[in-house]
Amino acid sequence: MADNKWGKRIIYQIYPRSFKDSNGDGIGDLNGIADKLDYLKDLGVDAIWLSPVYRSPMRDFGYDISDYYDIDPIFGSLSDFDNLIKKTHSRDMKVLMDFVPNHTSSEHPWFIESSSSKNNPKRDWYIWKSPKKEGIVPNNWLSQFGGPAWELDKKTGEYYLHTFDVSQPDLNWRNPQVVEEILNVMRYWIKRGVDGFRVDVAYYLFKDPFFRDEPHNPVFAEHHTHYDSLLHIYTIALPETLNMLKKLNAIVNEFDDKFMICEIYTFLHEIINLYRIVDHQSFAPFNFSFISLPWNATVQKEFIDEFDELVGHNYFPTYVLGNHDQPRVATKLGEGSARTAALLQLTLRGIPFIYYGEELGMKNVEIPEEEAKDPMAVNMKGFNLGRDPERTPMQWDGSRFGGFSNTEPWLPLEKEFQERNVASEVKDKKSFLNLYKSVINLRKTRKSLAGGRLIPLDFKNPNVLGFLRQEADEETFILANFSEEEQEVELPEGKWKTILSTKMDVENRKENSLLRLRPAEGIILCN
Ligand code: GLC
Ligand code: CA
Repeated sequence: MADNKWGKRIIYQIYPRSFKDSNGDGIGDLNGIADKLDYLKDLGVDAIWLSPVYRSPMRDFGYDISDYYDIDPIFGSLSDFDNLIKKTHSRDMKVLMDFVPNHTSSEHPWFIESSSSKNNPKRDWYIWKSPKKEGIVPNNWLSQFGGPAWELDKKTGEYYLHTFDVSQPDLNWRNPQVVEEILNVMRYWIKRGVDGFRVDVAYYLFKDPFFRDEPHNPVFAEHHTHYDSLLHIYTIALPETLNMLKKLNAIVNEFDDKFMICEIYTFLHEIINLYRIVDHQSFAPFNFSFISLPWNATVQKEFIDEFDELVGHNYFPTYVLGNHDQPRVATKLGEGSARTAALLQLTLRGIPFIYYGEELGMKNVEIPEEEAKDPMAVNMKGFNLGRDPERTPMQWDGSRFGGFSNTEPWLPLEKEFQERNVASEVKDKKSFLNLYKSVINLRKTRKSLAGGRLIPLDFKNPNVLGFLRQEADEETFILANFSEEEQEVELPEGKWKTILSTKMDVENRKENSLLRLRPAEGIILCN
């Protein structure tokens, strides 16, 4: 397999609405991102992934596209986009676009045509079904954003399928014209300069052609959302979907040095199967194990050891700590463990994805239900499902609007933004930001961290996860205490010194064979 550079790249996710506002409307935009590229370069980022910036009515903040070939005016223009790509490339960084193939906005001209009559040529571009009986939905399929996945179109008397919001009708991937069109969208953006895509809900493209009812989930619990009451065997992970991902990846491979990362929440062996659908390193599924498995050293270790081995050296492992759909890491784990999680993510083999603001230790911002903007919160009240809390403005400095904007931002700033922001963390030697920078710097300067193999180590301590990275004669040793108590660890033979602690107060400390890890501490050692 050809040597591919993506395995060594650090990818940074930008939620464009919330990164930097350049024109004073309280909403982040492309020119704002362009202004902050030096910050990202300095942090050590190699590629940025932009959450959707296509033209959109913004019901799901860009995940509802009404024109795949244009930029939404709230973010800027096509020429602003070209400019951003040029500037990013001139700093030797790559740009990935979010790509949303499962559904469009209901305001997309294709859907407007499709819903205009039963015999419109675009009727079959979406998934339409007649009622089972008068007024009864075609089957029991559910929407992830609450309620049935079917919405009745009064004009034509048929239902359309929407796995997400009613404003996000699912495209019919069984129609070859849809496939053709979407593949062309990919080519269009690559030719415009982008370096690849993050594929939204990549597992969902095809649905059962017989529209069978989904079976009930035997482990469903009341506190779960309605969506979890079914097992989604007829709407997710169909073999046709896997074949289609292979086809999408082939488009990426028509060009040089491009990459495609797929959003798929699943368990280990299915992640491995996904890698195997292509024999190319330009493809990887996200690995969400840090998010979906409990923060427990034994559980995480078991996953990491097996995952790393199964992915092997023909593919790249990936590690995600947070994104625009998940609670902030520092809120979920507390600051100490959030630091240690970052240390692990950046020292494991493979591609780390950093969600904007995680490098500052940003926290969730509580948004009262009546002020929620996210359709998930608006449609399903009472479940605390809103994703606004992790989408608040980036904290650049301590000025009135956090340096994000010169006016009230679209979502409120975190209460502690005056302490937790880029300007003050740059100056504080022990800050989260300086931890990120130091670990990234080690990752780039130590060959064992950059590309070495991972050797699992067992410390017979259920609270400690440790591993060795090794390349030629260089070894780097990582230890993480998952507990809030001190832990003792017997070091492997050899002379070890700690070169970094997540507490940012240790450098080149010689260790005895018995080492004490402070509560939630992570360290990097070398010999
Ligand atoms: C993905 C996105 C999420 C969006 C959904 C529908 O899960 O990450 O933000 O709401 O797809 O497109
Ligand atoms: Ca703006």
